[in-house]
Amino acid sequence: MATVQDTLNSRRTVYRFTDKVVERSDLEMAFEAASNAPCHKQTHPWNYYVLGEETRLKLLPMVISMAKEKITKGNGGESLTSVDRAVSKIIDAPILIAVTTKLSPEDSFREEEDYAATVCSLHNLVLSLWGEGIGSQWSTGSITRHSSTYSVLEIDEEMERIVGFLKAGYPESIPNKEKKSPNEIRKYLP
Ligand SMILES: Cc1cc2nc3c(=O)[nH]c(=O)nc-3n(C[C@H](O)[C@H](O)[C@H](O)COP(=O)(O)O)c2cc1C
Repeated sequence: MATVQDTLNSRRTVYRFTDKVVERSDLEMAFEAASNAPCHKQTHPWNYYVLGEETRLKLLPMVISMAKEKITKGNGGESLTSVDRAVSKIIDAPILIAVTTKLSPEDSFREEEDYAATVCSLHNLVLSLWGEGIGSQWSTGSITRHSSTYSVLEIDEEMERIVGFLKAGYPESIPNKEKKSPNEIRKYLP
């Protein structure tokens, strides 16, 4: 059985997933871990929206129009396959979750602390999944910031901000990533 330390150190962002179904019980366990993240003032500022097929389909007109816009702008050899790729990212992800954090326009420090707490919560979710062999990718692509996404997901832009989408599933492969050694990131002060 993997130790907590193994889980923390082995986790990598996964970009390609197999067709193996992620069980609801694994998701629920991960949401419990997400819910147990620290948050100052007990604000619990995070919310998770798991996108089913119907919701994903509703996102497609905006996804396609954004992909086509990129092609028109001629951003270096884009082709119609870019549209297919953009659609596939939404439709084919085994699990697709929008993650939001609470907004506090009247209190920027609260909002910053809440964002920090939401990231703790999201990483609890990611690590809980990873502990069960399920990989994920945090994405902050432009569709996560588009107003159509808010309206399709029925999220009030004045109350919550989407901090990203999380795609999850069983890894087809696990990428390697260069990381800094402990020596490079810490300094013991006298
Ligand atoms: C705030 C944040 C936003 C990210 N957004 C994207 C993204 O839009 N697209 C993407 O492919 N990866 C995204 N990632 C994943 C990073 O690229 C990945 O964490 C990084 O390459 C390090 O790899 P690792 O997670 O395997 O350690 C994001 C990660 C974070 C923390």
